[in-house]
Amino acid sequence: MADLKQKLKYTTPGMSDADATKVVGLLQDRLYAANDLHLTLKHVHWNVVGPHFISVHEMIDPQVDEVRGFADDIAERIATLGGSPKGTAGALVEGRNWDEYSIGRATTQEHLGALDVVYQGVISSYRDAMNELDDLDLVTQDMLIAQINSMELFHWFVRAHLEDKGGNLSTSGATTEEDAALAAGGATDADAAVAH
Ligand SMILES: [Fe+2]
Repeated sequence: MADLKQKLKYTTPGMSDADATKVVGLLQDRLYAANDLHLTLKHVHWNVVGPHFISVHEMIDPQVDEVRGFADDIAERIATLGGSPKGTAGALVEGRNWDEYSIGRATTQEHLGALDVVYQGVISSYRDAMNELDDLDLVTQDMLIAQINSMELFHWFVRAHLEDKGGNLSTSGATTEEDAALAAGGATDADAAVAH
């Protein structure tokens, strides 16, 4: 959890300083997640190749815009609660507890396979934050619920590309972006995914 000790000079009426401090720390972690995600999505938008390039390239941009908006809403909620959002690239790299997206130029299927793993991580951590907010701040929780809804919808768009007619995901069981890219891309594209 990021920066739980940020000293607040004021907060929103009716909330204790202790609760507001916890919510600000929790939101700072979400700000890192949203900022990292919209950068990752643009990176994928620029690096996908292959026969389905244009559909995947164009599918990603509306989600970039939405996630960028999430970051703005999170940062402004931090400020509303009396905190100071950290929005710089250096703070993100220092504050995040996950590795940078690992795939460079690769096929649409490989990137979508890797994005399946990315979304599993981001959505799980968002749901943890949502549950923690049950006893802290329902207004902030409401904001995160709407963001989760949008991300879960996009995750389905991603997974629909990885699914067969029986509903089986090609990435099932993969826990790393590289393994998921390999599983989604097939053997012929395997080297491209790992040799970025
Ligand atoms: Fe573009």
